[in-house]
Amino acid sequence: SKYLPLSGKKVVITAGPTRERIDPVRYVSNFSSGKMGYAMAEAAVKLGAETVLISGPVGLDKPAGVTVIDIESAAEMFEAVRTQFDDAAIVIKAAAVADYRPREIQPQKMKKQVGDSVIELERTTDILKTIGSMKTKQILVGFAAETENAVGYGIGKLESKNLDYIIVNDVTDPDAGFGKDTNVVTLLSKNGTHKPFRAMPKKELAILLLETIIKEESDQLND
Ligand code: PMT
Repeated sequence: SKYLPLSGKKVVITAGPTRERIDPVRYVSNFSSGKMGYAMAEAAVKLGAETVLISGPVGLDKPAGVTVIDIESAAEMFEAVRTQFDDAAIVIKAAAVADYRPREIQPQKMKKQVGDSVIELERTTDILKTIGSMKTKQILVGFAAETENAVGYGIGKLESKNLDYIIVNDVTDPDAGFGKDTNVVTLLSKNGTHKPFRAMPKKELAILLLETIIKEESDQLND
């Protein structure tokens, strides 16, 4: 018989960038392609989960067997995560959510001015931190993209956001990070797990990461 450890479990995954509108034709965003999050969703399906993928705007095909909720902004992603959170067994946040958005969305296309211009930015809600404070029995998994001291900052985020796991990638590694087909990560947990993974395709890595988490959480998942 097939190995389906997540059968009967709901896994919610976020992927891709968010777009924060400036005016009807412009936005603030980042270089996330969605590949890491989509790979996590494919892995969750392979392991038997009912899989919900909350996706920012990306150019990827929708993975088979996954319920995809398309969103654009950080605010829309927050709303979708909140709706899906209650009955989730595992929540994995691979999205690169904008930390700031323009304070005002201009209703008309902004006109060129003489000289420079300033766009005022305000903070978005930290989705992961908010659900970290709401969680009951959900297993909460964050990602962290760092350019220095990846493990140190990762442990900081694990604690401050009340996560069970954080997957840190040093995005200065040529095999890691935004847009690449491969990634190099270290899995950290609140119980002290410190598991580095060699460079490998995101699709392969996603399975290994989920299997490691399932093994460590077998008590919780078999309740
Ligand atoms: O999409 P790819 O091109 O495949 O690239 C993959 C990736 C590099 C985007 C991915 O592996 C990754 O690291 N995603 C998290 C990137 C990130 O935004 O890290 P962060 O350190 O800024 O945020 C930490 C965590 O908080 C993340 O889980 C993020 O989803 C979450 N967050 C951040 C800000 C915010 N307002 N709300 C959040 O929930």
